Amino acid sequence: MPFDRQALDDLRSQADIARVISNYVTLRKRGASYIACCPFHNEKTPSFNVHPGKQVFKCFGCGVGGDVFTFVMRMEGVAFAEAARMVAEVCGLPLPETRVVAPEAGREADERERLLRLHELAARFFQEQLARPEGYAAREYLASRDVGEATLAALRLGYAPDRWEALTKFLRDHGATETELERSGLVSVTDGGSRYDRFRGRLMFPIADSQGRIIAFGGRTLGDGEPKYLNSPETPLYVKGRHLYGLHLTKEAARRAGFVILVEGYMDFLRLYQGGARNVAATLGTALTEAQARQLRRYLETPKVVINFDSDHAGQAATRRSFELFLEQGFRVNVLRLPEGKDPDDFVRARGMGEYRERLKQSQPLVEYLADMARLEHDVSRPAGRAQAVNAVLPYIVKIGDAIERDLAAERLADRLQLDANAIRGELRRAARERRAELAAETVEAATKLTLAERNVLQAVLAHPPLCAVAFAELDDELIDLLPGRVFFRAARDVYAGGGTFEYDSLARAVARWQRAETRTDARGQLDFFSDSDAAASPLDLEMENYVAELLLRAEPPKNEEQADRLRAILEDGLLALQQWRIERRSAALHHLVRAAAESNDEALALHHANERLRLKRARLAALHNRQKRS
Ligand code: UTP
Ligand code: MN
Repeated sequence: MPFDRQALDDLRSQADIARVISNYVTLRKRGASYIACCPFHNEKTPSFNVHPGKQVFKCFGCGVGGDVFTFVMRMEGVAFAEAARMVAEVCGLPLPETRVVAPEAGREADERERLLRLHELAARFFQEQLARPEGYAAREYLASRDVGEATLAALRLGYAPDRWEALTKFLRDHGATETELERSGLVSVTDGGSRYDRFRGRLMFPIADSQGRIIAFGGRTLGDGEPKYLNSPETPLYVKGRHLYGLHLTKEAARRAGFVILVEGYMDFLRLYQGGARNVAATLGTALTEAQARQLRRYLETPKVVINFDSDHAGQAATRRSFELFLEQGFRVNVLRLPEGKDPDDFVRARGMGEYRERLKQSQPLVEYLADMARLEHDVSRPAGRAQAVNAVLPYIVKIGDAIERDLAAERLADRLQLDANAIRGELRRAARERRAELAAETVEAATKLTLAERNVLQAVLAHPPLCAVAFAELDDELIDLLPGRVFFRAARDVYAGGGTFEYDSLARAVARWQRAETRTDARGQLDFFSDSDAAASPLDLEMENYVAELLLRAEPPKNEEQADRLRAILEDGLLALQQWRIERRSAALHHLVRAAAESNDEALALHHANERLRLKRARLAALHNRQKRS
């Protein structure tokens, strides 16, 4: 066996078997697993199963089965070592290191086994101590923090007595060698070489791997001692950042709930767990790592996380740092921010689990959270400030892998910042293509006014008023209401309907009138699914007047039939683009509604919205088809 066994275990558990196999066959989701037609024998109905949670595959037709390595070995006809290398490469994971001397690997595996036994012994020891008279203070402490018996047992909490050699002696008596004691991290060594208990007078939280095997401990002082929590050092069993606290108890609940609530602390985990929220895991106050994100992903069919770190500054900084990792791992991310510097434990103790669940339901989708943060940091009443705000959020949106999700995020961002979604979406696509996450200031500035399509339509009618009949026949109120430049369209329609000509005076007056109306009532009304009630976009009148002047200046009347035809073509293309835009916008809104209905288990409603969305999609295709026929 040329590979380090631990490294292979890590690779197997971190390599997503479904992802590897989907490179060879098309997988379809069914419950917690995937099915496909077996690549190893000829079949018409799928009997090939992949179970990502268990990290295995099995064909019930021909009987072949195994783990990710077996699959690649069979599929590629390679030996084990080669298969492991391929898996590592496909998954972008480090290659397990080769061991020159085989017996050493065996020795290491043996050491791990012995250290695991030592930890199990220690956990039992601590649990017993908690029940003894010596554990009285710890029991008092637990009671003062409202920790119930059942929780205590489920989490296997214990107490490390305030003595120098309690555990050390216990482990020695159970056959631990001096080297093992030292390697376990449970025992410290003085300069003089004598060994003593690392954890003394502390409430003990065992840390387990995802199979529930104890690999480390964290110990809390019962008073104000420093450090508040003392943790195991890194050992052959425990590498910081590879595990999430409590996940072994909650992974099934997480799978059922479809998401994980991620908290920072031991006590946060405990509180939510005790309160019956069983889809929780804790990072233990350190920065989230890729290994942790991957681990979470394994237990979720569609990875989704609600980040509920402390609401203090450090917690919010940690929240932000975790976004990129989660997005890169394909997670949908929500943020739950509790008020007044509270952590989940404080909050639940103060307000109860019912209120926590309410807050949980209202956790914010990542983009909304980011947009709100950006709104606090930048002056979004100015175009330049809006550009900065967009630029603060865009780098995260670019990381969203799913195109529909990404568009929806752009839509939400646009809405939060009162910009035109089309412009942001277009810019986003370009940024994604160019792997660039900066939005030009001019784009944002323009987006606050007119889209290119709007500008073209307006300029065509202003340049050649006979086109108004065509234009306003197609621009119904509903569509106009949706447009960023609706004020201009309404003004132009008024002037046209009143039989006037497009001159600076008439147009500017009409624009001013509509703009006043706009700031009084939200003319977009109920059609704006994402609108904020406090949203009142009202650029300066002066700015608007400049704009009217610019539009008129650019509107060149046609000098001949050919130019008139060209204007008509520009108009028609512009109108079509606006119609498409309306459909897209509605479709995004429906997407939102479908999801909301699905989340509240209203299948009929979800289906209704989904059908409506399908209908829109067809309409859009038909319109595109017509345009292709025309040109
Ligand atoms: P906090 O300081 O927020 O602690 O650290 P807490 O979880 O709210 O703890 P209580 O409620 O005061 O008991 C969050 C996490 O950071 C790690 C622990 O995992 C803790 O749960 N931490 C914190 C340490 O490892 N050592 C420390 O000294 C402090
Ligand atoms: Mn706390």
